[in-house]
Amino acid sequence: MKFIIDDADIAKIKDIYNTFAVDGVTTNPSILAKSGRQPYEVLTEIREFIGPDAELHVQVIAPDAEGMVRDGHRIVEVLGKNTYVKVPTTKEGLRAMKLLHAEGIRVTATAIYTRMQAFLAAKAGADYAAPYVNRIDNLGGDGVKTAQDIHDIFRKNGLDCQVLAASFKNSQQVQELCEYGIGAATISPDVIEALIKNDSVAMAVEAFVKDFEGLCGKGVTMETSK
Ligand code: G3P
Repeated sequence: MKFIIDDADIAKIKDIYNTFAVDGVTTNPSILAKSGRQPYEVLTEIREFIGPDAELHVQVIAPDAEGMVRDGHRIVEVLGKNTYVKVPTTKEGLRAMKLLHAEGIRVTATAIYTRMQAFLAAKAGADYAAPYVNRIDNLGGDGVKTAQDIHDIFRKNGLDCQVLAASFKNSQQVQELCEYGIGAATISPDVIEALIKNDSVAMAVEAFVKDFEGLCGKGVTMETSK
């Protein structure tokens, strides 16, 4: 499962990148709005930091297919070929996906709440389909199960499309999809931090250090001990 950051805050992206093995960054219009900066200014900075080979996902804004395609052209022109054009999975979006795919532009079908949306996006040539796990849960559905079912639909129908699960609110959702072996998960920095936060682990490590310092003295490490 690829591990992707869902944020546009460059300080947070740098912090997560320096610790975790990360495959790229996803953004959406709301995430860009939170940065308070002009879109291409912040996106260019992200691209420069993650390098030309990492995945960057950027969403179109235009309401019609032709406009979405034009948005996609500009996105790839400015941010490079490893940039995935995120297209909402609406009727217009499906048409834009077909057109972008025909040009060899990488597409992430987004705003997916149903299995059928994902199936149609994959048929239209999307490389990734992004089900919104937590938002589906909030509607009374089962976000994890939806993402798993979409993964199965792709495999059973021989569709060359991966699940890029999005909208996580807790570690359990991420873990279940990791165990299932979906293609990718895009996760906000706070949920990423929570994946490794565990008081029992912290206490165990603290006890090891305390015992060692009892033997060798405070502040002594394996570098400085006799
Ligand atoms: O791009 C979709 C994803 O980022 C949505 O996440 O947390 O706003 O539900 P969230």
